[in-house]
Amino acid sequence: MKKIMIQDMHKHVGETVKIGSWLANKRSSGKIAFLQLRDGSGFVQGVVVKAEVSEELFVKAKTMTQETSMYIVGEVVKDERSTFGFELQIKDIEIIHEAIDFPITPKEHGTEFLMDNRHLWLRSRKQHAIMKIRNEVIRATYEFFNDNGYAKIDPPILTGSAPEGTSELFQTKYFDEDAYLSQSGQLYMEAAAMAFGKVFSFGPTFRAEKSKTRRHLIEFWMIEPEMAFVEFEESLEVQEQFVSYVVQSVLKNCKLELERLERDVTKLEHIQAPFPRISYDDAIVFLNENGFDDIKWGDDFGAPHETAIAEHYAKPVFITHYPIGIKPFYMQPHPDREDVVLCADLIAPEGYGEIIGGSQRVHDYDLLKQRLAEHNLDENTYSWYLELRKQGSVPHSGFGLGLERTVAWISGAEHVREAIPFPRLLNRLYP
Ligand code: 4AD
Ligand code: MG
Repeated sequence: MKKIMIQDMHKHVGETVKIGSWLANKRSSGKIAFLQLRDGSGFVQGVVVKAEVSEELFVKAKTMTQETSMYIVGEVVKDERSTFGFELQIKDIEIIHEAIDFPITPKEHGTEFLMDNRHLWLRSRKQHAIMKIRNEVIRATYEFFNDNGYAKIDPPILTGSAPEGTSELFQTKYFDEDAYLSQSGQLYMEAAAMAFGKVFSFGPTFRAEKSKTRRHLIEFWMIEPEMAFVEFEESLEVQEQFVSYVVQSVLKNCKLELERLERDVTKLEHIQAPFPRISYDDAIVFLNENGFDDIKWGDDFGAPHETAIAEHYAKPVFITHYPIGIKPFYMQPHPDREDVVLCADLIAPEGYGEIIGGSQRVHDYDLLKQRLAEHNLDENTYSWYLELRKQGSVPHSGFGLGLERTVAWISGAEHVREAIPFPRLLNRLYP
């Protein structure tokens, strides 16, 4: 008999098939048992009718514990009432392993309890749906950059320098030297862009931030494109096209998951390039006029400020041209103003905050040297990075998109910890 997966059931209507599965939930009456089955690829209802099977099989179905693993044999039938469209008329059940007191029951549980049981919580419908959306965002990201002529280049994870400031570094011993876990692959991606033109990286990054907000992880995944001969405005166009592509791909390929999460898809459907842009200067004026009296030019935005600005727009919004004093050393100053840089943060709608940080990079050797000194960064540590500016330096730009914040936004998850399989948080290294 053919062993199939739930996601392929539509190809086997009318056939009797075998599926390896777990029991997610069940309900039964004296005459019929409904088994909610999952096999990792999807969820389906299996039906056991007492009158059609042996007494032994019916009892087995009725008494099976949650998360028991088994092989099911049944006939695939169309079922218009289920969102999935199919159900399984069960003919036989071969139990593989009977689960013992699965801790996550259909009742409500507290978040800390669920996080302690993350290794099991991942099996639940909602978490499963978020991870499938994460998987689609990853797939669409590779597709977008591959289709647009980018090479994937992998920067190192153990590094000797810090692109984003030295306060949030995870330090480790590298034999006799000090090393840091990568905060961002950007500096290496700049070298790669000079070798390959358009590149992107996609890997884990680490921030020893003592932040305990719904937007912060200690370990998160970042997508970092870097493009030679691409200037600030052109980079914004790539960003809005990329984000639109990812959102539209999820809408197209994760219908069941979005439905399971009860996500309001009307809020995602119009996420199409172009996105609005507001300058930092105008954002300060807007905030002052909208109840934020104490923020002044030169201050960085906090989550409430970003949310207030984002609420004004239905699409993600670029906040552009931040003050030079609150951004990293590598950002290119504005050609006509020395107090702001050619950078933008992309703020997601619905309070999900900054999903992209990006900029044009300084490509002039002397200016970069000066910027390093102004940030009290040791020139020797960055000598290879500086040298790029001596060997056919060109204007170039890049950005970093945070995977988990993007997944949290698209799936409507409350907290980024639900957007990564095993979150690393301020007080959590388990499981
Ligand atoms: O704005 P960030 O710090 O920018 C950079 O690291 C640049 N070097 C990227 C580049 O230009 N290549 O981080 C980029 C994005 C943020 O917009 C956010 O989405 C995400 O990474 N991010 C985090 N996500 C989860 N937890 C954290 N602690 C994060 N810190 C940043
Ligand atoms: Mg940022």
